[in-house]
Amino acid sequence: MSNYHIKHLEEYFQVYRKSVRDPELFWEEIAEEHFLWRKRWNKVLEWDFSKPEIKWFEGAQLNITENCIDRHLTSKGEHTAIIFEPNDPSEAAEHISYTDLHNRVCRFANVLKSKGIGKGDRVCIYLPMIPELAVSVLACARIGAIHSVVFAGFSSTALATRINDCDCKIVITSDGSFRGAKTIDLKGIVDDALDSCQGVETVLVAKRINSEINMKEGRDLWLQPLLDDASPKCEPEIMNAEDPLFILYTSGSTGKPKGMVHSTAGYMVYTAFTFKNVFQYHQGDIYWCTADIGWITGHSYIVYGPLSNGATTVMFEGVPTYPDWGRFWQIVEKHQVNQFYTAPTAIRALAKEPLTHVEKYNVSSLKVLGTVGEPINEEAWHWYNDHIGKMNSPIVDTWWQTETGGIMISPIPFATPTIPTFATMPLPGVQPCLMNDDSEEVKGNPAQGKLCIKFPWPSIARTIWGDHQRYKDTYFSTFENKYFTGDGALRDMTGYYRITGRVDDVIIVSGHNLGTAPIEDAINEHQAVSESAIVGFPHDVKGNALYGYVILKDSGTERDRDDLRKEINQLITERIGPIAKLDKIQFTTGLPKTRSGKIMRRILRKIASKDTSNLGDTSTLLNPEVVQDIMDNVL
Ligand code: WTA
Repeated sequence: MSNYHIKHLEEYFQVYRKSVRDPELFWEEIAEEHFLWRKRWNKVLEWDFSKPEIKWFEGAQLNITENCIDRHLTSKGEHTAIIFEPNDPSEAAEHISYTDLHNRVCRFANVLKSKGIGKGDRVCIYLPMIPELAVSVLACARIGAIHSVVFAGFSSTALATRINDCDCKIVITSDGSFRGAKTIDLKGIVDDALDSCQGVETVLVAKRINSEINMKEGRDLWLQPLLDDASPKCEPEIMNAEDPLFILYTSGSTGKPKGMVHSTAGYMVYTAFTFKNVFQYHQGDIYWCTADIGWITGHSYIVYGPLSNGATTVMFEGVPTYPDWGRFWQIVEKHQVNQFYTAPTAIRALAKEPLTHVEKYNVSSLKVLGTVGEPINEEAWHWYNDHIGKMNSPIVDTWWQTETGGIMISPIPFATPTIPTFATMPLPGVQPCLMNDDSEEVKGNPAQGKLCIKFPWPSIARTIWGDHQRYKDTYFSTFENKYFTGDGALRDMTGYYRITGRVDDVIIVSGHNLGTAPIEDAINEHQAVSESAIVGFPHDVKGNALYGYVILKDSGTERDRDDLRKEINQLITERIGPIAKLDKIQFTTGLPKTRSGKIMRRILRKIASKDTSNLGDTSTLLNPEVVQDIMDNVL
């Protein structure tokens, strides 16, 4: 029996039991047998959730790019590491071998070094899904710089906040990006952001769309000539196990985005292990995750997990709708994709279109299908299973978070029997539990409660950049000695978990986490607005959409309401990005509040969802009369 590769259900149970009985031994064996270390660890695990402090493989030294690239060179240097599929299907795909990748990462690493970047420096990467994105991530890791990738759909304000929060000295971007039939002026967004980022000394610009852009003298440099001149040799920086590998921002329910810090060794071991098992990857398979590297899914399951297993990973620049709704399946056929990993929102959108878009292509290469980012509804699950998997490819509904670094609860295909909407069972090393409102663990089955994890796993985020107290308050203070996920879940009679959704003020729209507070802040900046509250309501494609209740300073405002709605959404687009735009905006004269002044979002959520049969007791509200008024005017 191999701990590293689980092939059937009995083996899963054996491995799982072992991982709980002796977690240190379990992870030690995996770390020993499957990775390249420059120095062995002194201690596998040290932890204390009350501080909180978590250390895996202390004393070990390594470089993650040696594990992701160098060690594959002798056996599979000519194998494809990355297949780049461009936005435009008529442009040729690029096959980047492990040897090419090594060469490109080393050159890029040397360029970064020549700009004064070294171990521990923060590098902001704001790039579309082009090879330079994966290469620059790995180049940072090569020299021990900490990458902070910002999804290239974020606005200049959101980008500036992220650059300043972790004091990036350098930004890597491109002249622009292709997105379906559109182009986006990324460099312009960076220029706007940098007006408020004093610490950035250098901007490296990749050429992608060949647009005319402004290059600021002394700051902005074209990347390609620098790469051409750089040496293709770059010795990896030897890192300590717990040195930070990257920062990735995620929305909180309040306040500014949280810069989750992931460390090197534990993250590597866990993402490699979970990639191998959750996708049942075999040498020679072609694996494709449609996420953007700007999100954790892309970090862990486009870049680090696949490459540390010597896999072939597809990077797709475009969108599912261009040139038509058949694009995903055309790519599956073209590259003979074996494992396909996407978001429920994409499946729901695809399922609304005629089946002819699927039927045109031969997708029989597919062996495993995955979903991530939000609960998958039953209808979408069946569509995926029937029309894409042809009832022959297991669906892995993978539950995890930016903070967890890797997949936590998921079926293991061909081993775990799947049930629609259930993420099923914890992966080895993961010890979930459900907590009730009295802070007690709900034991036995079935059960329902707030989802927590009782014991550390190797890829748990170690802190929030610059704010360890917030890390403690957010994840370790709700329940003593437990990591609190912010999600609710239920466990059925067989012990299968189903994630029911967020229990805090984070709303997941099309798989993107959005905190209500930053959106409300953006709306409140509008000169006509005095107060606002955002809630989610069910949407058949996005999962949730955003509903805004807005109080105007002067309710008699003679302004055209639709103009105001446009202006509010424009403000949100500028402050956060188009993903946070509101679907509906209701102008109201009041918001239901508790006597202590807290907005009762529960009531607003129900009204927005048109589920007003049971609003609960509203008589304790400070202003119960507004409830009827809001209900009468609901959109
Ligand atoms: C939600 C994405 C139900 C959940 C990797 C979590 C899910 C948040 C699932 C994290 C799933 C993710 N079923 N809900 N399979 N996967 N979620 O940080 O609410 O972007 O807390 O990480 O997405 O989103 P994040």
